[in-house]
Amino acid sequence: MKTGIESISMYIPRFGLDIRDLAKARNVDPSKFIRGIGQEFMAVPAPDEDVVTLGANAALQALEGVDRSAIRTVIFATESGIDQSKAAAIYVHKLLDLPQNCRTVEMKQACCSSTSALHFAMATVALHPEQKVLLVASDVARYGLGSPGEPTQGAGAVAMVISAQPKIIAMGEHVGYYTEDVMDFWRPNYMDEALVDGKYSIKVYMHALEEAWNDYRTQSQAHFESFRHFCYHLPFSRMGLKAHLHLARLEKSGLSAAGLQAQVEPSLAYNRRIGNAYTASLYLGLLSLLETHPESLEGNRVGFFSYGSGCMGAFFGGTILPGYRKALPTRVHRDLMTNRQRLTLAEYEAFYTHTLPQDGNCYRTDRHRTGAFRLAGLENHQRLYEKVPQVKVLAADAAEACAAAPVM
Ligand code: COA
Repeated sequence: MKTGIESISMYIPRFGLDIRDLAKARNVDPSKFIRGIGQEFMAVPAPDEDVVTLGANAALQALEGVDRSAIRTVIFATESGIDQSKAAAIYVHKLLDLPQNCRTVEMKQACCSSTSALHFAMATVALHPEQKVLLVASDVARYGLGSPGEPTQGAGAVAMVISAQPKIIAMGEHVGYYTEDVMDFWRPNYMDEALVDGKYSIKVYMHALEEAWNDYRTQSQAHFESFRHFCYHLPFSRMGLKAHLHLARLEKSGLSAAGLQAQVEPSLAYNRRIGNAYTASLYLGLLSLLETHPESLEGNRVGFFSYGSGCMGAFFGGTILPGYRKALPTRVHRDLMTNRQRLTLAEYEAFYTHTLPQDGNCYRTDRHRTGAFRLAGLENHQRLYEKVPQVKVLAADAAEACAAAPVM
């Protein structure tokens, strides 16, 4: 039985910062951020967006045309959760009016809980092929104003329906794992920004890749040439290329530098213009591969490496299915990517430093441009979400908007 992704969609904030503006403000050569780190634009959430609204917006699109009555599990993967107890999945479940005979849970392990969620979802579907699982990966990546991690910040969500009727990609059954207790990136409960040892985290990432890959090879008998394309966890876009060259070297691949780059480059395009979205990052890379590659990828095998600081790595594979292009909302995504408001540095810093009150008093957030859901405010220490009436973007209109809008 095949299990995998039946539908997939992303959502990103309607605002962003041009990385050149950040470089100028921080007195850094822009080519360090653009070439050295590989970022061009950073998605910035408005004060009335959080991981719940980002995730619900992605899920709304992912559920288009899906039989909602078959969804009996909602898994929300995040490392920038909004509550220590209640699962963000419950808010999403309510905003989307999903069936009440449903289990709802939040998962955490830095950037890779979305991958464990995917594999738990596949196991559920293998046991109950009539059921579908809604998986939401949503994060806001914050490192701090002026910190080395600042140019890699971003935000976004990916939602996927995992089922026994996959239309996009059928996932393989084998997964290579690696876990080691290290302190490369973490966020204590009392902090809004992550603590990170950036250079060390790159080393640990590479080591976890090697170990997870070796375990995957043992489990599956696969080899480097088994895959046409590779998607890596992308804390910043150049990390994908670095990781791929590292793996190719280990495996003594005979491919040229250009050939290796072609295996990974299409998965980097969205990250360059969104930034890190932690749990969603690997799957934004998959969408980028599927939606920006000029050729049909039907039947091609993709190797995935998921990394979560702390740390855990997972390597796995999948096969792109015939007709996958028809099942992707590419025009909606293109419209999201191209139709964003460029913030000034002062506006970015104002959004960034905006905090919700901690006294539990009634508070209303200012209304900004959002998707179909927004964070309306707080009352009695409870977050209040609301639906925002939407003008439905028809595919033809979206295509026109893509042509007209400045490429952001
Ligand atoms: N033009 C072009 N490239 C330049 C440059 C310039 N003027 N100046 C520096 N660079 C290159 C560097 O050579 C380096 O490339 P390399 O890694 O291939 O050698 C790259 O830009 C980054 O420079 P570096 O000095 O290492 O940057 P940094 O100290 O600011 O830190 C990170 C970079 C990624 C470690 C930092 O952004 C970070 O901590 N990010 C968050 C954590 C993270 O993403 N971890 C990854 C694993 S999860």
